[in-house]
Amino acid sequence: MKYIPFGQDDKELSEIVLGMMRISDKSVKEVEELVETALSVGINAFDLADIYGRGRCEELLGLVLKNRPDLREKMWIQSKCGIRIEEFTYFDFSKEYILQSVDGILERLQVDYLDSLLLHRPDALMEAEQVAEAFEILQKSGKVRDFGVSNQNPMMMELLKKEVKQPLSINQLQLSAAFTPGFESGFHVNMEGDKAALRDGSVFEYCKLNDMVIQAWSVLQFGYFKGNFVGNEKFQALNQVLDRLAFKYGVTPSTIAISWILRYPAKMQAVVGTTNPKHLREVSQATNFSLTRKEWYEIYLAAGNNLP
Ligand SMILES: NC(=O)c1ccc[n+]([C@@H]2O[C@H](COP(=O)([O-])OP(=O)(O)OC[C@H]3O[C@@H](n4cnc5c(N)ncnc54)[C@H](OP(=O)(O)O)[C@@H]3O)[C@@H](O)[C@H]2O)c1
Repeated sequence: MKYIPFGQDDKELSEIVLGMMRISDKSVKEVEELVETALSVGINAFDLADIYGRGRCEELLGLVLKNRPDLREKMWIQSKCGIRIEEFTYFDFSKEYILQSVDGILERLQVDYLDSLLLHRPDALMEAEQVAEAFEILQKSGKVRDFGVSNQNPMMMELLKKEVKQPLSINQLQLSAAFTPGFESGFHVNMEGDKAALRDGSVFEYCKLNDMVIQAWSVLQFGYFKGNFVGNEKFQALNQVLDRLAFKYGVTPSTIAISWILRYPAKMQAVVGTTNPKHLREVSQATNFSLTRKEWYEIYLAAGNNLP
């Protein structure tokens, strides 16, 4: 496993993060086995959100931690808030809702503090002063150690930074070999056509400029929750390249797809969502080698993209 330095004390975080969005139908024993497997292959970072399984995912990890309190200090635990699922889904970055959400997260996880809290999806009604007040209270009370965002563009982060004192250390963004709108406009600068449209405000470059960790989510999915592209006949050209490189490096095609993410030169983490210990052991090998520049581009092109 490879690690990136994180935060003021340069804590070492694994480049692979275990995302726990899909564990809601697992037993406590199965979740414990998944966490144990992660730790055994060097994964020390774990990602949740209050909405995953409507709280069930945090609850399950909490039950594991209750039985196994020895695990807490080996784990860097992150959760997210700001999405409300009620009669319909909407976003809420108000001070009251952030504070109330963190209390719920800590209770479900049965822990005293979160290593990191992310604001899940942008709230157009956000007042940065309210977020700042909430973060201040959370940090001073020791309930949250580090802060970040998810799915935010540079201007949104600038707006937050006008008021928030704590560094925004992380941006969690959707990225996979078959989901690359963030890269497309960068390749097509100064060109005609839709591909040149700057949709995300150069968010990847912004994160690098500001020394933020980029956490890629849904690393094996295409579209917005449309399914897995590995082994999918809709992505024949891409799978041919993944299969060939898998043979070359002696790993699985999914592992190649994750190493493609980690090849991007930034403080990069891949949040993997497997619930299967065998798959987790396989994809953890993605940090053992580095794709060549040519291989990285070959995958990008085989996914159906073009370059000027
Ligand atoms: N910030 C956000 O807005 C946001 C949104 C969505 C997700 N996330 C985070 O990102 C994490 C990952 O998202 P995701 O679950 O969509 O990611 P993913 O890793 O792309 O997908 C995981 C799915 O792929 C399946 N899979 C099939 N073959 C696999 C293999 N060989 N190796 C690994 N997985 C394989 C897994 O099934 P098995 O369990 O059978 O392996 C699982 O159902 C989530 O857990 C969450 O923490 C964040």
